[in-house]
Amino acid sequence: MSGAPREWDAAAYHRLSDPQLAWGRRVLERLRPRGDEDVLDAGCGTGRLTAELAAAVPDGTVLAVDASVAMVEQARRTLADLAPRVRVQVADLRDIVLAEPVDLIVSTAVFHHIPDHPRLFSALLGCLRPGGRLVAQCGGGPNLAGVRELVRRAAEDDLRLAALRGWPGPWEFADAPTAAARLRAAGFARVRTSVEAAPVPLGGPERFRDHLRAVTLRSHLARLGDDDARAALLDAVTDLSAAGDAPFTLDHWRLNLEGVRPGSG
Ligand SMILES: C[S@@+](CC[C@H](N)C(=O)[O-])C[C@H]1O[C@@H](n2cnc3c(N)ncnc32)[C@H](O)[C@@H]1O
Repeated sequence: MSGAPREWDAAAYHRLSDPQLAWGRRVLERLRPRGDEDVLDAGCGTGRLTAELAAAVPDGTVLAVDASVAMVEQARRTLADLAPRVRVQVADLRDIVLAEPVDLIVSTAVFHHIPDHPRLFSALLGCLRPGGRLVAQCGGGPNLAGVRELVRRAAEDDLRLAALRGWPGPWEFADAPTAAARLRAAGFARVRTSVEAAPVPLGGPERFRDHLRAVTLRSHLARLGDDDARAALLDAVTDLSAAGDAPFTLDHWRLNLEGVRPGSG
C-alpha cells in the first residue's frame, strides 16, 4: 500500500460505495458457483458485497479479510447475522496464508491498492486448493486518468499542493496483457483478463467532493500537511471537473481477472 494510508473512513465508505457494490454484483454474476464452496473475499471493505457473496454459496463458507481494522469492524457489524458461516478477519493480502485453502477467491475494487501484483498473485495462489478459482476485478487500464489530470493541474497552480507534484499516486492500474502475464508467472492457468469502461457520474459538486474526500483522493489528502491544503485540493478538483467535458464524473475503468490453480480438486 505504498503511499496509501492503511485505515479508511469506513462509515463514509459504507455510505458511498454504491458504485463498487454495482461493479461487484456484476462480478458475482459471472461466478456460477456450485453453492458449497469455501470462499475468500479478498479485501471485503465494509462487507456489503460479502453478504451477497455468502448468499451465492448457501452451503459454503466465506472468509472475508481486509487490511483496515476500521473496515473489518464495520464488516463484522454488516455480517453479524451470517456468523459463523461468514467470518471476518484483519489480514494483509500480500502476506496472507490460510490454515485451510479455499475453492474460490473473489476480490473487487482492491488489487489496484496493492502495488506489488506479482507478490499479491503468488500469495493468492497459495490460498487456493488445486482446481480453485480466482475471480476478481479492480481498477485498471486508464482508470481515473481524467481525475489524475485534474489533480496534476490543481497541484501545478497551488503551492499548498506542492507535495503532489510529480507523485504518481498510490495505485497500480495494470492493463489486461500485463495482468495476464503476471497471473501466469505466479502459476495461474486458464487466465483471462479484460478492461472495461465504468464511468461514475455523481450528479453534482457535493457528492463528487464527498467521493474525492473519502475514497478517490484519500491518499493524496494524506500526503498534504494541513486542512487548508486538503480543502484547496478538493475545491480545485471539484471546480475543474465542473468546467470539464463530463462534470462530476469519475472516469473509472475496471480490470477483470480470472485464473485457476492447476491441479484437480
Ligand atoms: C475500495 S475498497 C473495496 C472493498 C470491497 N471489496 C468493495 O467492493 O466495496 C478497497 C479495500 O481494499 C483493502 N485493501 C487495500 N490493500 C489491502 C491489502 N494489502 N490487504 C488487504 N486489504 C487491502 C482496503 O482496506 C479497502 O477495504
